[in-house]
Amino acid sequence: MGPIGIFDSGFGGLTVFKEIKALLPQYDYIYLGDNARVPYGTRSYETVYHYTLECVHHLFDKGCRLVILACNTASAKALRTIQQRDLPLYPDLRRVLGVIRPTTEIIDQFTVSKQVGILATSGTVNSQSYSIEIHKFFPTIEVYQEACPMWVPLVENNEIDSEGARYFVQQSIQRLLTRAPAIDTLILACTHYPLLLPLIKARIPSHIQVVSQGPIVAKSLADYLHRHPEMEALCTTNGTTQFFTTEKPENFDEKAALFYGAHVQA
Ligand code: SIN
Repeated sequence: MGPIGIFDSGFGGLTVFKEIKALLPQYDYIYLGDNARVPYGTRSYETVYHYTLECVHHLFDKGCRLVILACNTASAKALRTIQQRDLPLYPDLRRVLGVIRPTTEIIDQFTVSKQVGILATSGTVNSQSYSIEIHKFFPTIEVYQEACPMWVPLVENNEIDSEGARYFVQQSIQRLLTRAPAIDTLILACTHYPLLLPLIKARIPSHIQVVSQGPIVAKSLADYLHRHPEMEALCTTNGTTQFFTTEKPENFDEKAALFYGAHVQA
């Protein structure tokens, strides 16, 4: 038995963890940010897989039996291999879940025009994971993706209201809307992007719904634990949270508050 592990390449996963903690405060959690090696979005499959697996092992070593990859790039590039190749090597029950499936399986609840925009890292866009997953559930929904390679570095550097952020958000939104003027739903398919929400909303027509993943992933985890009592029984319930980073802890604490909405200590 142990805490639930939450993993992200950096701080972005805290936007998801905040919602998980609010919905399911009774569980113990360990958050691990690979801040020393962020961003993942521009890295190869092999690199993202190896970095992610290393961090998952680290969370397992700390007693986690269930780990959430609160990172779209890791979910797109590493999750399936970890689930299919690495988890079966363990003699006991362990699970690793991602953030793409929970978002794509309910996307029909948001779109009327059946045209959906995806804003994500280059890695997530190139993996085609969102198109593939959405089409599994809803073959008639049209998916338009736009890679935003500058957004994660801007957010990680806390430049969320800088001239650079305004420029790159405008550029990506304009490109997407030029190609896909009929979208009525926009998925923020990177857990860093909710911090850019005010800039994004100011640049899109008001009828377009912006979907952040935090509340969706939290609800999906609650449903998962309800459907899998054998996993739920492995999660301890003292309401504690520990934060870990692969970088200097003092650098983590200061920035984490921006994403988590409260001060934390790594
Ligand atoms: C990144 O590290 O580039 C962002 C990861 C993600 O949430 O896709």
